[in-house]
Amino acid sequence: MKLYLLEAVMLGFIQVVTTSVSSTKFTKIQPSVCGPVRLSNGWVDRSRSSCASNCKARYPQECNSFLYNKSTKACIPANGLGSNQPLPSLGEGDLYHYQYPDFSKFPIGSNTVNLAYFTKPLIYTDAESACRCLDAHLYSPDSWDKIWFIGNVAIPRYYMWIGLNDMAVEGKFVWAKNVQEIEAVYKIAIFKPGQPDNGYNGNQDCVFLTPDSYEFDDGDCFEQKAYICEKPTLNNSSA
Ligand SMILES: *[C@@H]1O[C@H](CO)[C@@H](O)[C@H](O)[C@H]1NC(C)=O
Ligand SMILES: *[C@@H]1O[C@H](CO)[C@@H](O)[C@H](O)[C@H]1NC(C)=O
Repeated sequence: MKLYLLEAVMLGFIQVVTTSVSSTKFTKIQPSVCGPVRLSNGWVDRSRSSCASNCKARYPQECNSFLYNKSTKACIPANGLGSNQPLPSLGEGDLYHYQYPDFSKFPIGSNTVNLAYFTKPLIYTDAESACRCLDAHLYSPDSWDKIWFIGNVAIPRYYMWIGLNDMAVEGKFVWAKNVQEIEAVYKIAIFKPGQPDNGYNGNQDCVFLTPDSYEFDDGDCFEQKAYICEKPTLNNSSA
């Protein structure tokens, strides 16, 4: 009997520890652009932290978020945010996202930019969609500060998509964030000598940052690369 009680206490303790650890990695978010990619219709679960644990237990690879309604106790597992996914309905409850990307402020010359890095490689359009789901766009080095201080933003070894492409009109490079054509002086400044060359099979429409020289090159949009998302920086009233 004593042993049984001790076991029960220990099991209870372990359960409390594991559920609280996993649920703290989930952040409550209010998506405005993309809804969660629901993995099933879900189940009824006794608490939010239990919903988090069961989501991870049932979908170890795919569970990246979940919906939980405190009143109905409905728990819906999801795989993070996706474009063309409906926003959470009232009945589905609140959305909790696992390891929601943290945008950090980087000093760039006299300005700051709000960036998040993603090292899991994606093709260009998927990378831009992933940024949009976070109310962001692929990074746009569209000022002299951003161009001069590109070394502050690059990370060693990673070739990273930035928000510049000429997919629509060959040779007309536009920023992902506003579809405005890059100014001629910036275009000359940012590309590696001899680039953009639309090289190989004439199919290089998307721009990436090279880790070796901190310069830009055009590549095949269907190559998978790491990427940088940029959120608009909130205006600093003292600036
Ligand atoms: C839970 O579901 C009920 C019934 O659909 C709804 O009225 C309520 O707003 C939901 N709660 C949350 C937190 O979304
Ligand atoms: C910051 O201020 C500029 C100029 O007034 C404005 O165009 C821009 O929309 C503002 N950005 C934000 C995020 O509020």
